[in-house]
Amino acid sequence: MSIATTDTLEKNLTEWELLALNSELNVSDGHPRQSLSAAQTRIIADLPEIFAQCGREHPADIEREAVRRYMSLVKQSSYPADRVLLCYASSVAMEILARALVLETNRCALLHPTFDNIPDLLRGNGMEVVPVGEEVYETGILPDEVLRNVGCVFLTTPNNPTGRVLPELQLADIAAQCREADVVLALDTCFRSFDTRAQYDHYRVLEESGCRWVMIEDTGKIWPMHELKVGMLLHSANVGLNLAKIHSDILLAVSPVIMRMVDRLAEDAASGGISDLHAHIAHNRSIVHQELAGVPGLSFPYSDNLISVEVVDLGERSAEEVWEELRAQNVFLLPCEAFYWDAPEEGAHQLRISLARDSERIRWAMQSLAQVLSR
Ligand SMILES: Cc1ncc(COP(=O)(O)O)c(C=O)c1O
Repeated sequence: MSIATTDTLEKNLTEWELLALNSELNVSDGHPRQSLSAAQTRIIADLPEIFAQCGREHPADIEREAVRRYMSLVKQSSYPADRVLLCYASSVAMEILARALVLETNRCALLHPTFDNIPDLLRGNGMEVVPVGEEVYETGILPDEVLRNVGCVFLTTPNNPTGRVLPELQLADIAAQCREADVVLALDTCFRSFDTRAQYDHYRVLEESGCRWVMIEDTGKIWPMHELKVGMLLHSANVGLNLAKIHSDILLAVSPVIMRMVDRLAEDAASGGISDLHAHIAHNRSIVHQELAGVPGLSFPYSDNLISVEVVDLGERSAEEVWEELRAQNVFLLPCEAFYWDAPEEGAHQLRISLARDSERIRWAMQSLAQVLSR
């Protein structure tokens, strides 16, 4: 089993994304940047009233209602309402988990590939990270060698960038193995709102298993709110980690204004907004496929992906070279090497396209990509 270090990678994904942030055509980062729907526009127009109301209400009431509304949207009826730690972002939840874990264990098994700030935060807190391939989502079997040598198994579902979902039966099997081995099972479900297959009641499965579990939820990938979002860190009663203490070392509270907005946005999503979002993402994915259809040598390796990103494999072409050529036209995609944190060469020919954009921008970016690849 190899342990990767960040020295082998030139830039992390966020550094690549930062290069795109002020560009004319940014389809790089996975944060939502499409135009607001009419209903979302009305919620934003209510901000002065939301702001004033927050001064009259107890923050705990607003938080409880917002979390309940989000959990109802993603069908998690068994979540433990008294064990929710709110964070400014899901990365803050991840940092809290890593800081708590390292007090108990120095090794964590982690899905490969996945978003690289997860291994980076684990390693940054002094942990070794051991890769586990996505095949466990099919087999539900963690290798004995892994279970014997780690204190935590960390899985992302749906995964970024592959969209791969951990099904219910396999989650139950993995949770039983973690309970048996006394290993913490941690799940990042930041992209679950895009895929109903990731919306069976995970908390029921985890609680029934009796394992020590941690969940990271996120509203930051759903609504185009200019980074107004909340990350949530939930855990089992028996988790045995100092999560609440470390959370209190870092923050007091997420703004009740954000929590009330989440409440309102989740209410709108449940009454049709989320279906519209799914249709928008599916439409943008079809634009990607249409515009690139005539380009020889391309493939889409993750055909089952429903989340708000799509990966294209360029065949022979190097993703970084193509990225440079697109950058010359002010079009920014994301090279995928860093997702493969244990074997970067596996992503060397892949580019990720963020679909949470207005459709005409996706078309424009894909026409530019097709042109570069046809030269
Ligand atoms: C799977 C996953 N989890 C967590 C994060 C971190 O989200 P944030 O930047 O909002 O903290 C990301 C970022 O894209 C992600 O892809």
